[in-house]
Amino acid sequence: MDKIEQAKAVLRENWRNGYTVPCGSLYPFQWNWDAGFHALGWMYVDPNRAIEEIRSMFKGQWENGMLPHVVFHESNENYFPGPDVWNITKSDNAPKHINTTGITQLPVFGFMLERLLQIAKDIHFDIDNFVYEIYPKIIQAHRYLYENRDPLKEGLPCLFHNWESTDNAPIWDAIWERMDLSNAREVADLRKDNKKIDGSMRPTDLDYKRYIHLIDLLNDKSFNEKEITKDYPFLVQENMFISFLIRSNESLLKIADLYGFDKKELMHWQALSVKNFNEKFWCNDSKMYYPFDLNSKELIKKDIIGGMMALFAGIPSQEQAQSLANKLELEFVQDENWFLCPSYSSKAKDFDSKRYWRGPLWPNVNWLLYHGFKRYGFDLLANKIKDQTIYLIEQYGMYEYFDPMPEATGSIQQQHKGLGGENFSWTAAIYLDFNMNHNFL
Ligand code: SER
Repeated sequence: MDKIEQAKAVLRENWRNGYTVPCGSLYPFQWNWDAGFHALGWMYVDPNRAIEEIRSMFKGQWENGMLPHVVFHESNENYFPGPDVWNITKSDNAPKHINTTGITQLPVFGFMLERLLQIAKDIHFDIDNFVYEIYPKIIQAHRYLYENRDPLKEGLPCLFHNWESTDNAPIWDAIWERMDLSNAREVADLRKDNKKIDGSMRPTDLDYKRYIHLIDLLNDKSFNEKEITKDYPFLVQENMFISFLIRSNESLLKIADLYGFDKKELMHWQALSVKNFNEKFWCNDSKMYYPFDLNSKELIKKDIIGGMMALFAGIPSQEQAQSLANKLELEFVQDENWFLCPSYSSKAKDFDSKRYWRGPLWPNVNWLLYHGFKRYGFDLLANKIKDQTIYLIEQYGMYEYFDPMPEATGSIQQQHKGLGGENFSWTAAIYLDFNMNHNFL
């Protein structure tokens, strides 16, 4: 079977009743930002499923507009933490007829809708009715962020949990060090993820104790945002998340022009977010964007790949974009033989080329950065990111993430670079879009 057919087969294999699981063994439900990428992939296989995928995701939308990070459409014992840990019935805003988690995730649906529209046009697929249906729901999800997650009214909504962005990225480390775990429960034995794949590719048991403790604290506060923002150990304005929000706002503004939606509220959000993003997150000494911790009131100065995502949203000046490109090529990787783009700078002492968001490269991140660098005219670099992603997928398979370090000599088995889950849906989706569409977002 050729690779295109293999990618299509991965999506078909991971399709359930109206949605796609990221990976059958590891993630048996519907994840929020994954679903955006799945919809993109389905446009090349069966565009009706792209629409069904997004509709299924929005079935989990909360009454206050929050789009949850996971929708538990069916029960499944092979995942921890499931609906009983989240216990969302404690919130009046939780949906009554479907189980979800009680946090959100990176806001991808605005820009994915723009991409879907581009592809729909190419393949003569009528998507207009769907746009009218879904657009107000995406706006509601953004309104939730601006109204409930932005205590300083800066247009920079904050996160309540690391799972709202990149799970075990080093940017959270100082928060974990400060966090009081005296009342936290032990969860190591309840984990399922590290029983399915090599634990050295996943967060540690201590990490999981912290993650579940945050869920318990959110639960104690009945997921009430006002209470949470008053006193809670994890309140971070994270620039990758906000880059996605700004990029999605941009797409929604374009779609509003095409379909005649009112733009006033969106324009207000966008102006506020873009201005404060550059003022608050840019560090001129390091020439990098960093998240801001609302508790310690300081920038979290760790060079993770999320700091480059502002390119995708068109936020930096050309000069800032040049500094980001330099940092990627001179610090994130050590020489030409490394693969782009590691999730953490290889210069960092605790860089770990195999552990989830602490080093490995992620195909979906590469897709976003490909578009980001193209946007600023760095075509060579963008194409290198794309070609290397395609190479890794073709050489090693449709993995969740990859080891970015140079290939060693030896057999493919000895130097295998595919990590995490196999036959991963977003990797298949990215592979299809990279190979079958050459328009730019
Ligand atoms: N990515 C997390 C997990 O590994 C949750 O979203 O389960």
